[in-house]
Amino acid sequence: MSELGPADEQLVKVAALARARAYAPYSKYRVGAAIRTKRNKIHSGANVENASYGMTVCAERCAVFAAVAAGDVKDYDTIAIVIDDTRLPSPCGACRQVLHEFAPGVRVVLATTGGLRKTTTLAELLPDAFGPESLRG
Ligand code: THU
Repeated sequence: MSELGPADEQLVKVAALARARAYAPYSKYRVGAAIRTKRNKIHSGANVENASYGMTVCAERCAVFAAVAAGDVKDYDTIAIVIDDTRLPSPCGACRQVLHEFAPGVRVVLATTGGLRKTTTLAELLPDAFGPESLRG
């Protein structure tokens, strides 16, 4: 368990608040995410499920898309992801790929409502990623 600074703990708090708004009637696995820009703006998201299961959107993508739709397209500093479990969350492959598009260098804070914390980076979670740079000859 790593000690986080106050800015990261605040981000975890915002992610936990978003988690309370998750729509997860099928899996009951509620996830919250909050992404902070380098200019200190925070955008949050929660997982939103659907009766047609494949339409489900994860909390991380919800947060990134909210940020992009609000005009904060790049320059992200940190994303926090929160679940209520005895183990830390692990963002799915699709969310890692989406994060790489907008935030290849982003710090990632993994957290549980019970107080577990781990800090990593997207580059660690998705090494040798395919991204916009791959398409530039
Ligand atoms: N989920 C997330 O929100 N983030 C992840 O990184 C993994 C999975 C959601 C999707 C679905 O609503 C539920 O968790 C179970 O897979």
